[in-house]
Amino acid sequence: MNKKIVILPGDGIGKEVTAEGKRVLQKVADVFDHSFVFEEAQIGHEAIEATGNPLPDESLMKLKDCDAILFGAVGHPKYDNDPTLKVRPEQGLLKMRKELGLYANLRPIKLFDELLGASSIKPEILKGSDILFFRELTGDVYFGEKGKKDDGNTAYDLMIYQRFEIERIAHKAFAAARTRKKKVVSVDKANVLESSRLWRQVVTEVGQHYPDVQLEHQFVDAAAMKLIQNPRSFDVVLTGNLFGDILTDEASQIAGSMGMLASASVGDTVGLYEPIHGSAHDITGQGIANPLASILSAALLLDISFGWKEESEMIIRAVEQALKKGYRTRDIRDAATDEKKILSTSEMGRVVRDEMERIAKTQWA
Ligand code: IPM
Ligand code: MG
Repeated sequence: MNKKIVILPGDGIGKEVTAEGKRVLQKVADVFDHSFVFEEAQIGHEAIEATGNPLPDESLMKLKDCDAILFGAVGHPKYDNDPTLKVRPEQGLLKMRKELGLYANLRPIKLFDELLGASSIKPEILKGSDILFFRELTGDVYFGEKGKKDDGNTAYDLMIYQRFEIERIAHKAFAAARTRKKKVVSVDKANVLESSRLWRQVVTEVGQHYPDVQLEHQFVDAAAMKLIQNPRSFDVVLTGNLFGDILTDEASQIAGSMGMLASASVGDTVGLYEPIHGSAHDITGQGIANPLASILSAALLLDISFGWKEESEMIIRAVEQALKKGYRTRDIRDAATDEKKILSTSEMGRVVRDEMERIAKTQWA
């Protein structure tokens, strides 16, 4: 099966971790006799330096003509404290989401048992947590009208949602809930925001098409608290762009580390897969970034875009095995970690591929 995958490493550790995600995809191709054509494209700070544009047309053309995308991260510290810079790496990511119609961001928060000790939350509270976030990705304050007035002394970003934007992601969340514990928590701020009141109304209406799925509404502040207080009380969480951005970073602590979390952005066309972590310039170039979020993103890619469950499952099991054998990157070590088993980015990638090889051999021996 010939599939074209665009690799979009981006900035900072994006490059380091995506290289490992790609190698794992190559390993899948070898083991299962698939063939992938990989193409690279530029985005973010790197693309600005090369072309002045955070998402050059050449990249966009490649993205529109492929079967799936594996993305790293964008960002650079030089922009973070300089609000005067007009062209910014993140614009490339936002434009890509909009242009490709990637309106649903799925962020599964699943804790590998081996990492129970790596989180700052107590193990007995965490154990068994398994949450699937549906974050809306192409609306909200991210894309509402923004601007400045009063000689730059007033600035605004409009929080705006249209019915069809809420409906389409709500359907996805309810449909997913049917395959899980049949429970959706929809998060908003309907006690204050008009856009949240529409959100709540539309989600309730969509929910009526799924009478077998239980729907609960929570305000975002309460949801933020409950996520840490009792993560097991959540199954599918449905929310808007901004609240979803914040809550999923928080929820990453339930999985031990940001370095573990993969995500899928889907809409009506091609799917994009990426770690939820950023470009992390503080550790760039040291070879210590955790590649598992990118590797698990590759697993999501095979499952969601290609429908290849077995291939996807093999990657997840290989990651599980690597963790079971005590291998860690720095971000997921705990008091029990054997210092000798703390691996670099590329070593962790190698260990996962070796485990895949082992699984393939025992399955078909
Ligand atoms: C994310 C990131 C992005 C976002 C940034 C880099 C624009 O934080 O994917 O969660 O806010 O959506
Ligand atoms: Mg974020």
